[in-house]
Amino acid sequence: MAIDITPCSPALGAEIRGVDLSQPLDDGTLQALKDAWFEHLVLLFRDQDLTDHDLVRFSGYFGTCDKAPPNEAANKLSDGYSPDLPEVTIISNVVVDGVEIGSLGASECAWHTDMSYNPEPADASALYALEVPEAGGDTAFLNMYKAHDALPDSLKERIGGRKAIHDATFTSAGGLRKGLEPPTDVSKAPGAHHPILRTHPETGKTMLFLGRRTNAYIVGMDVAESEALLDEIWGYTTNDDFVWTHQWRKGDVLLWDNRSVMHRRDDFDPSVRRLMHRTQLKGEVPFYTG
Ligand code: OGA
Ligand code: MN
Repeated sequence: MAIDITPCSPALGAEIRGVDLSQPLDDGTLQALKDAWFEHLVLLFRDQDLTDHDLVRFSGYFGTCDKAPPNEAANKLSDGYSPDLPEVTIISNVVVDGVEIGSLGASECAWHTDMSYNPEPADASALYALEVPEAGGDTAFLNMYKAHDALPDSLKERIGGRKAIHDATFTSAGGLRKGLEPPTDVSKAPGAHHPILRTHPETGKTMLFLGRRTNAYIVGMDVAESEALLDEIWGYTTNDDFVWTHQWRKGDVLLWDNRSVMHRRDDFDPSVRRLMHRTQLKGEVPFYTG
């Protein structure tokens, strides 16, 4: 069957039909998928039936799979919930024997870029849906090339060459990371410093790189000035015209380019099970030129 590539929205995202990710990909298929990925930024594959090995093999075609952050509690579970491979982590609200088997619970996740508080944020992430609620828990993606292009030139000039701190304190679901305190002064928050305008190494296009709004800070500015400028930038960025929202079905796989999109998640009924397996690709090429 030939590959079919259908855009999911005018903003970004494409559904790929005719590819079974439980099988190795041939070179021609892989090239077609990479081309589609750099054009549409997020790829959706439906009705997949994957092992963790399949998920890791698929992700590895697009870069180098990173080891998942350790989840000590879940890794001790003996009833089949622990991932089979160290590259796979669980995103879930499911609790077994009083232990949360995964991350992010059932609450809303604010707009974010995965791992951007690190010096080399992940190039990409993939999520595979094993169990999903009937309603809620939708995941939205935002095209950061379009967000960049929408900024007035005067605003681009004000942020050109500037860096921002990507605060490490909170998860996207609002949880405090182990061993960290909420910053009282955002200019001293722990986390990586990244240019606000970045160049994608594959497409050569400029994109906005914001990470997340909470505790962000533009280096070298008064905090009040930084807050006002960040609010102005975010005002242009969170525009429905740049967004595609995905409603999950069991068997869906999403692969997103973590450099050129931000994502967020709706909350869902905590009494309903949602179970995803996730991989992420190492940030290997510095994706900015200054
Ligand atoms: C993630 C993430 C959103 C979701 O795994 O990085 O943001 O829909 N997940 O669970
Ligand atoms: Mn995320």
